[in-house]
Amino acid sequence: MAEKILIVDDDLDSLKLIGLMLQRQGYDVIAASNGAQALARAAADRPDLIILDIMMPDVDGYEICRRLRANPVTQPIPIIMFTAKTLIDDKVQGFEAGADDYLAKPTHPAELASRVKALLLRSAAQRRTAAEGGSIIALLGAKGGVGTTTLAANIAAAMQQKAASILADIRPGQGSLGLVLNAPRAAGMMNLLGRAPTEIMPRAVEAELTAHASGLKLLLSSARPKDSLLNVNVDSVVATLKSLRSLARHIVVDLGSGLTRLTARLVREVDQVVLVTEPSRIALQMTRELLGELEGLGLGRGRIGVVVVNRTPSQTHVSWQEVERTLGHEILALVTPAPELAAQAAEVGTPIVLLQPTSIVATQMAKLAEELMARNSVLSANL
Ligand SMILES: Nc1ncnc2c1ncn2[C@@H]1O[C@H](COP(=O)(O)OP(=O)(O)OP(=O)(O)O)[C@@H](O)[C@H]1O
Ligand SMILES: [Mg+2]
Repeated sequence: MAEKILIVDDDLDSLKLIGLMLQRQGYDVIAASNGAQALARAAADRPDLIILDIMMPDVDGYEICRRLRANPVTQPIPIIMFTAKTLIDDKVQGFEAGADDYLAKPTHPAELASRVKALLLRSAAQRRTAAEGGSIIALLGAKGGVGTTTLAANIAAAMQQKAASILADIRPGQGSLGLVLNAPRAAGMMNLLGRAPTEIMPRAVEAELTAHASGLKLLLSSARPKDSLLNVNVDSVVATLKSLRSLARHIVVDLGSGLTRLTARLVREVDQVVLVTEPSRIALQMTRELLGELEGLGLGRGRIGVVVVNRTPSQTHVSWQEVERTLGHEILALVTPAPELAAQAAEVGTPIVLLQPTSIVATQMAKLAEELMARNSVLSANL
């Protein structure tokens, strides 16, 4: 079946010209001559690619691009900005709005054709990866209160900027993620825990997801203390995790702290475990024990990454080298103190990487997310 391309331009001559060029290449072409029409057609017709003019009378191309990216239905569609505006600043603005490529008017038909073809190939490759299943990264605190939830939210938000991501909280009764991300009442996970594993299909799990303003999808547990007493069917949680793989490229799971019957089982289902700790002697002792036990559960060293979160500046902190020596395991990343920023981010329900992307902590956490994504690619290539 021919791939469908949506062309958006207020200039009808240009619309016809490009339309003809692409039809001759064998594509199905649909058109829109203003912003409202473009958004409506993109959502209804789900084209394989969009060619977008920037200067239009109602809504400009940058804004259309942002809105397309904000809607989960149109978010994955590749976009080429096509315009007479060719200053570097215009291009930067286009990429920041979420465009994948940029083409200057007037263009040679051969150049248009080759860019369209390249982008379609790339997005088909991405869809194939998605069909093979997303990767799961679980965050586990060596003890309570070390910053596990904060780190999980930030890693997931950073990953969402690259590809569709889901952040899940699997501990009924202790679901602080919903509170940190401004979704206090959402608790879709609770509706899954009570079901039989055979009833847990991707569609059922998808129905329990909550959208965060960043585009990230959340699968949340409740924060009602008495829910901790619920008898959780471990197999239902395993089935939920398996379903999540088909719903996003990256899945980040907050496992809370320490080992429970549930987490001991779940670490075997995930691709990587990030062990979160702090640079105090007590936390390090606990981290060392936990590392040993995780390995005992069959989790290979290459799948465990230790992250040290330093929440307060202090003279008594153990140095990086000493942490590595004590643990006999290298540190994957260090997060430095940012108490004000962490509190502010929780207050407004926006992870630090989005609230203050240029801050030191945001840079550290975004880099960690990059590293984890790179490791995921290596791990899946070695399967
Ligand atoms: N880099 C940081 N600098 C300073 N404070 C931080 C940092 N990261 C997180 N915090 C703060 O530390 C506190 C604990 O964080 P968080 O809730 O993420 O920890 P946790 O390990 O998930 O806790 P719990 O065991 O209760 O689930 C929060 O108040 C959070 O804002
Ligand atoms: Mg937590």
